[in-house]
Amino acid sequence: MDDSKTLAVRLLQKGYSPEAVRKALHEKGYPESAVEKALEELGFPKPAEKAAEPPEIKKTLEAKKSPEGEFFKTGVAGFDNLLEKGIPRGITILVSGSAGTGKTLFCLNAMSNLSKQGFQCLYISLEESEDRLRKHMDDMGLENSGIAIVRVDPFRISRSVEALQIKAEGRLLAKLEDVVEIIPKGLKPDFIFIDSITAIAAAFAGREVNYRVYIEQLFKYLEQIKATTFLISETTDAPRKLSPTGVEEFLADGIIVVYHIQNRMSRERVIEILKMRGAKHKEKLVPFEITSTGVVVHPDQEVFAEFDK
Ligand SMILES: Nc1ncnc2c1ncn2[C@@H]1O[C@H](COP(=O)(O)OP(=O)(O)OP(=O)(O)O)[C@@H](O)[C@H]1O
Ligand SMILES: [Mg+2]
Repeated sequence: MDDSKTLAVRLLQKGYSPEAVRKALHEKGYPESAVEKALEELGFPKPAEKAAEPPEIKKTLEAKKSPEGEFFKTGVAGFDNLLEKGIPRGITILVSGSAGTGKTLFCLNAMSNLSKQGFQCLYISLEESEDRLRKHMDDMGLENSGIAIVRVDPFRISRSVEALQIKAEGRLLAKLEDVVEIIPKGLKPDFIFIDSITAIAAAFAGREVNYRVYIEQLFKYLEQIKATTFLISETTDAPRKLSPTGVEEFLADGIIVVYHIQNRMSRERVIEILKMRGAKHKEKLVPFEITSTGVVVHPDQEVFAEFDK
């Protein structure tokens, strides 16, 4: 078996969908012809509709990926010092960590700053109510008048995906917009926060294949609308497992991991940028605090806690 086919088999065995395998092989630099030959031999020929994708969409995707020099700062105290220029606009970033590590507060903090910079921000909450989220922000003095918060029932998503009769080979019978109806019609946010994809995955319990298809369509859709997205993922075993299926961390362009590590007598909050495509960043774990005025990262301090990464 040639290299591309061996890798494709390995990824399929790990649970990757054919589409995700296709993307992985392309990213590893395998030529398109070798990738398609390997997938075809494994019974996953190139989907017909992909070949027929209208050129405007392709153009949009390329345009989104190449706003060279377009970086943004989160404004979270100390965090941006971990990056040389900031985070590239238009990408999808996973914010992973176990319960209570500060994922929501980090995102609310960044969103408030981005909104103050004039960006349209949308927070899609699958867990906490709008009132509670606004209260967290008020308690920390974070401006939230200009942002949109919508509460979505994760079971509504799983039911509607179910109703769309997903084909086993990972393609949907409906338009993308119908599948990812969580973004209110008429809104064109620059930044979207989804809290959390873990809650969405849980609503698909027992039908993981449908969740995988949904999440892939969601990533595609987010790419098309050119929004920069933060996807919160609750995980009990970071950094070994960062997302509900593993596909999300592979599809995401950036990964930020937050930890709350048990020391002998106390706990220490730690943050790291695990990956950020298209951006130079520090590759180290640094301490952070949650204070009465928000998240404060200490990029030049050492982490004291020892933990098995
Ligand atoms: N004013 C404050 N000062 C210090 N720590 C605070 C303050 N407010 C909240 N916290 C800490 O932040 C934690 C909650 O953070 P957050 O809600 O962002 O966590 P999370 O990672 O989103 O958790 P979950 O997975 O449960 O949604 C609390 O458990 C508490 O320890
Ligand atoms: Mg949370």
